[in-house]
Amino acid sequence: MEAPSTARTTAPTRPIAVWVSNLCKVYRTGFWLNQKVESLRGCSLSVWEGETFGLLGPNGAGKTTLLKMLLGIVRPTQGEGQLLGIPLGDRSSKQRVGYLPENPYFYDYLTAWEFLAFVAGLFEIPASQQRQRIPQLLDLVGLARSTARKKPLRQYSKGMLQRVGMAQALINDPEIVFLDEPMSGLDPMGRYQMRQIILWLKEQGKTIFLIVTF
Ligand SMILES: Nc1ncnc2c1ncn2[C@@H]1O[C@H](COP(=O)(O)OP(=O)(O)OP(=O)(O)O)[C@@H](O)[C@H]1O
Ligand SMILES: [Mg+2]
Repeated sequence: MEAPSTARTTAPTRPIAVWVSNLCKVYRTGFWLNQKVESLRGCSLSVWEGETFGLLGPNGAGKTTLLKMLLGIVRPTQGEGQLLGIPLGDRSSKQRVGYLPENPYFYDYLTAWEFLAFVAGLFEIPASQQRQRIPQLLDLVGLARSTARKKPLRQYSKGMLQRVGMAQALINDPEIVFLDEPMSGLDPMGRYQMRQIILWLKEQGKTIFLIVTF
């Protein structure tokens, strides 16, 4: 399986970060798994490294399903693809990827700081690096360090949790960041800050895959 270099006619010399060809997903539902829901049909696209790519679509269009297939969370029914030159589903790409899910799950009784330290631990980031990185990320997403130290996540508002979600997506300094509706739940200032973060990531040369509902 090779990503074609001619996937686009506007041909920058940069490598392809995401490439999928004819990706399809049919979910099986019902008690006997005998009902089929076609979620995505024949999706082909490519995203160049350093590109900010927006995937727009109405509710139920299959955006999150596509993202989950890119991340290896859901297996395609048909089609193939690569993430950072690695076949979809191969775990070796995970270290280089950041992901803000549509409905992030948090451990209610951890503080934001503890949660970020937990995620950093999954990436085997040393404690000395964590002590620098966590406050930097809290500043970036606009969460007070003192609150993050003290307050358990069950007491956070939706917008505050979205900011924690963004911070965890960036904890491993990923090459590519997948953001599933990052503006969701944010107030106007939060949306502005999220936009600034995305622009900052772009300046850093990161690839950004952004899902937006219309
Ligand atoms: N686990 C699942 N089992 C069965 N059907 C599913 C599952 N996940 C998604 N679907 C169906 O697949 C279709 C696409 O869902 P998906 O969540 O990918 O859409 P979306 O574009 O992300 O929508 P939204 O903008 O509301 O987030 C929908 O019809 C949905 O009901
Ligand atoms: Mg979705």
